[in-house]
Amino acid sequence: MGPHSGSGEQVAELSLKGMKALVTGANRGLGFEISRRLGALGITVVISARSGHEARDAAERLKGEGMDAHSVILDVHDGKTIDVTARMLGSEFGGLDILVNNAGIMIDARVQPSELDVGRLRETFETNVFGAFQVTRAVLPMIRASRFGRIVNMSSSLGSLAMIGDRNSPYDAVVSPAYQASKAALNALTVLFAKELRDTGVKVNAACPGWVRTALGSERAPLSVEEGADTPVWLATLPDDGPTGGFFNQRRPVPW
Ligand SMILES: NC(=O)c1ccc[n+]([C@@H]2O[C@H](COP(=O)([O-])OP(=O)(O)OC[C@H]3O[C@@H](n4cnc5c(N)ncnc54)[C@H](OP(=O)(O)O)[C@@H]3O)[C@@H](O)[C@H]2O)c1
Repeated sequence: MGPHSGSGEQVAELSLKGMKALVTGANRGLGFEISRRLGALGITVVISARSGHEARDAAERLKGEGMDAHSVILDVHDGKTIDVTARMLGSEFGGLDILVNNAGIMIDARVQPSELDVGRLRETFETNVFGAFQVTRAVLPMIRASRFGRIVNMSSSLGSLAMIGDRNSPYDAVVSPAYQASKAALNALTVLFAKELRDTGVKVNAACPGWVRTALGSERAPLSVEEGADTPVWLATLPDDGPTGGFFNQRRPVPW
């Protein structure tokens, strides 16, 4: 069964019931849709968000659709909320199988690198890189202990160094240097964690959802959240013979 086959998802689906997933920034946009799709597969989903009431509302919506959904406050800038979440996952849920590092910001669209304020660069890295890193470290002991560890980092083709350097890239006109550098750094962490974990069953991959209609992607984006959630959900539920240390869009490799 190849990593691009649909049947892999079905095999995984059968064995996914009772698995536990944590999704960051899951109150809206792609994070919410990914949570919904994981919940629909019978996975217990912990919706995390920096706003407690938004996390609760999102979990209630999924519960209303018959899913096993829970909520927790997690601000990826705030190490305390990360530690509390990790402890809660251990004590109340008995561990964690799937982590989707989805929380992300883009606050420098159309700014040339020479005009970029270092504060924006720092803030972007704080969320998109250090946040994902800290959450990963905090829950990794549980993911390692799982018989099915999967980590998905929400990246972007805008962070592909190969595409940034290619005049013929479809994204050549896009400039958002802090965002792009942060996703390139997140990609590097993806490969580094995958390397550390390569002799375990844990798979660590980066997902580009494509250009999706969310607050971040804007109304002009061609893809719906349902379409954008496909690749991250596929990576979160990969069968045991699926890839690790890769970067994928539409279930196909993206050049680094
Ligand atoms: N949309 C696209 O076209 C596109 C393309 C490529 C990659 N992506 C990636 O996909 C991911 C989701 O993006 P989206 O399009 O769904 O954007 P979105 O609708 O703007 O959602 C972003 C999410 O991240 C959360 N977040 C931001 N800072 C946070 C923090 N400090 N702690 C916890 N959560 C935080 C937001 O929470 P609040 O509601 O509290 O702000 C929100 O839930 C991002 O990593 C993004 O880079 C998106």
